[in-house]
Amino acid sequence: MELALWSNGKPDLRAQAQVAVKGTVDIVPEGYRLGQQLYLENCGSCHIPLPPEVMPTATWRELLLDLNEHYGKRVDPILRPSLLAMWGYIRQFSRPLKEKEATPYRLTQSRYFKALHPQVEFPETVRPATCVSCHPGAAQYDYRSLTPEW
Ligand code: HEC
Ligand code: HEC
Repeated sequence: MELALWSNGKPDLRAQAQVAVKGTVDIVPEGYRLGQQLYLENCGSCHIPLPPEVMPTATWRELLLDLNEHYGKRVDPILRPSLLAMWGYIRQFSRPLKEKEATPYRLTQSRYFKALHPQVEFPETVRPATCVSCHPGAAQYDYRSLTPEW
């Protein structure tokens, strides 16, 4: 399947500027809300939903294109219109790889995940299941709140 919205896309800065922060949960612009909702439903059932900014756009694209072989599991098929809406959202809130940079499939290999945690020394291998140890609101998609030790 082709994901038609793919380009070696520059993020839409205007839309990013509209991302207001209300309390601790990021509000996404109107045009991406459905995509976000679908993303949370489809990608937050087995593990907590990971925020798009932790992986490069190319990683998400590969994951969406291959739902059958997902880390040893099978993700239920997602209807194409939903997939495209999710893709629009993910693409908007993630960034491209550099030329020739390998596509990471684990957070531990993701430059963007590292960049979001410049000061953090992780006591154990980071997995979807470990986010909550520092981000108590992770299951509610809140990655701003931190446990008191931070
Ligand atoms: C059927 C259950 C299931 C669903 C639904 C699911 N995942 Fe996963 N996902 C897994 C499992 C199992 C792992 C491996 C977890 C581990 O090793 O701790 C995983 C791992 C991941 C990882 C790698 C995390 C790491 O270890 O660095 C990413 C990224 C990811 N999933 C994204 C998605 C996206 C995007 C969707 C929606 C399209 C999705 N997942 C839906 C089961 C699922
Ligand atoms: C050992 C603690 C720890 C773990 C585990 C952890 N984080 Fe973080 N995270 C932090 C801290 C602390 C910050 C604030 C940035 C800083 O101080 O470096 C942060 C910041 C973030 C941000 C940026 C939030 C913002 O302000 O926009 C995101 C997104 C994020 N983490 C996602 C994750 C995800 C996803 C996981 C699990 C895969 C995870 N983190 C696991 C400690 C952790």
